[in-house]
Amino acid sequence: MESKMLYEGKAKKIFTTEKANEVMVYFKDDATAFNGEKKGTIASKGVLNNKIASFFFELLGEKGIPHHFIRRVSDREMLVKALTILPVEVVVRNIAAGSLAKRLGLAEGTKMAETIVEMYYKNDELGDPLINQYHIKAMKLATEEQVKTMEDYALAINAILSEYLKGKNLELIDFKLEFGVYEGKVILGDEISPDTCRFWDSVTKEKMDKDRFRRDLGKVEDAYKEVLYRLTGERA
Ligand code: TMP
Ligand code: ASP
Repeated sequence: MESKMLYEGKAKKIFTTEKANEVMVYFKDDATAFNGEKKGTIASKGVLNNKIASFFFELLGEKGIPHHFIRRVSDREMLVKALTILPVEVVVRNIAAGSLAKRLGLAEGTKMAETIVEMYYKNDELGDPLINQYHIKAMKLATEEQVKTMEDYALAINAILSEYLKGKNLELIDFKLEFGVYEGKVILGDEISPDTCRFWDSVTKEKMDKDRFRRDLGKVEDAYKEVLYRLTGERA
């Protein structure tokens, strides 16, 4: 059976497979920022993010977090369960950075007294606006129970990843998750990578993520490679 492209996003393409309930994710090198205003490529990013995301899904799966990952098929391809993605992006923040620092006038690097969970409406035309549980219910983006599940998983994932990364001298500043429904249950989808997280070196506080691209800090590919190395011991 011919594989057909179902969707092309900013960093990934999704293809059908011979099974209706599985799709193939293809990781591109394309990078965008500020809702597509800034465009570029990061050499080998697709390969690096595929490996990094595969590693994180396996780690989370071992800790009991249900996710869409089945297996990494090639350098740029990942086989996953076909989800109905909920149009809500869940952001978890431990330390103020990025849009939170700007919106609330906090110095970047300010440790928050409590972990913050935010929800954004996944809508490129609107630039993914910040919403809360009332908007989600009123717009029927997800049920109250699905929101609670996403929040619980997001906090559990934060605990697992923060702890793991600490052992690798990386601080988990914040990250974005997407969830979808599979066989009636909410499970983790999309990817977890330096595109969707902020990682700072624990000692030097150097940025090891897509902020190097967003802010033209240079050595973007090196940072992604270093994250893969610290996580898996693999030198890309
Ligand atoms: P922000 O500070 O720009 O709101 O980003 C918070 C986190 O979410 C950060 O780790 C980057 C990630 N993120 C995405 O993965 N996709 C996006 O479209 C945005 C805006 C942020
Ligand atoms: N906002 C995303 C980011 O900065 C990318 C984009 O929207 O173009 O990660």
